[in-house]
Amino acid sequence: MKVLGISMGRKNERSDIYCKQALMGVEAAAKASGRDIEVEFINTVTMNIGQCRGCGACSKAPDGIIKCILPDDYLKLEEKVLDADGIIIAAPVYSVGIVGQLKNFLDRFGAAHDRASMLEEQKKRREEGRPLLDERYFKDRYCSYIAVGGAWTEDWTGLGLPMMHLFGCSQAMKVVGQINANDQGRKTSPFLDPPMMDDVFAMGENLANNLGVPYDETTWFGKEGTCPVCHLNLMLVDGSDSVTCAVCGIHGKAETKDGHLKITFSDEEKKRARNTVTGLYEHHNEIGEMMRICIPLLQEKKEFLAEKGREYRAYQPKWS
Ligand SMILES: Cc1cc2nc3c(=O)[nH]c(=O)nc-3n(C[C@H](O)[C@H](O)[C@H](O)COP(=O)(O)O)c2cc1C
Repeated sequence: MKVLGISMGRKNERSDIYCKQALMGVEAAAKASGRDIEVEFINTVTMNIGQCRGCGACSKAPDGIIKCILPDDYLKLEEKVLDADGIIIAAPVYSVGIVGQLKNFLDRFGAAHDRASMLEEQKKRREEGRPLLDERYFKDRYCSYIAVGGAWTEDWTGLGLPMMHLFGCSQAMKVVGQINANDQGRKTSPFLDPPMMDDVFAMGENLANNLGVPYDETTWFGKEGTCPVCHLNLMLVDGSDSVTCAVCGIHGKAETKDGHLKITFSDEEKKRARNTVTGLYEHHNEIGEMMRICIPLLQEKKEFLAEKGREYRAYQPKWS
């Protein structure tokens, strides 16, 4: 088994320290249980991982090899992620959310590695006797996330952990722990916050203990939160009694009891969370349905769209 620690913060600063602390927890749990777990640490801050340009080349390769063609460091990190059984990411909160590098990585990793589409593709290849996709795409993986923020209150780290969840989503990775390590400014250094360091270590131990465990038997490390799947509190509300978890896309029912807001999610909803194979198939089928509508419409409106396209291409206000 392999556990990869990724830090996207400055070298030797807080994200590095927390990530290494969690890896030390992994090693301690491996030793205690006599299991062989190899750990690896990468700081990505100087890696060049540019944004997805939506070119679609990763899904158009003639031999069906799902690989991004942009010539930068993305593939080096993708290889490490595919090799790993467990992944710990520690990343700074920038502008209330994740650092741009993590967003760039997950845009390029996520859409191209959607588990439902891959399962369908693999099925087709088997039937047609074509070369199969890399088996690593179908491996269960376990993740834990640490969002590192300077702000005193959680108000300024609100999108850190929720956005980190998007990392493992399309590959249906199981998140087994998370910590919002905010308040770093006042605390100055992780070394001056032993309770936080203990928590991070324990989160690493928990990850190690969950490797290879069936997803519905895993143990959770972190705050319980409102959503029973991502354990976060980021909800979409529209004034009705229906509430949606923004991270998992599942619907809950809101009611007030003794002046407190209570939100409950049915087992059926939990099973269709965005990071499950069921949830991913929902989206895969939705895309299939979109194609069935959009392709005939493109044909029908071909001339009108060509004319409009010419008009808008010709309109080029100067950028000085
Ligand atoms: C551009 C930038 C934006 C930041 N925005 C936030 C923020 O919105 N909320 C927050 O809590 N901290 C914010 N911070 C502080 C960092 O999260 C904090 O310094 C963290 O320790 C950086 O991680 P590192 O020490 O691993 O590099 C920001 C820092 C930078 C450089």
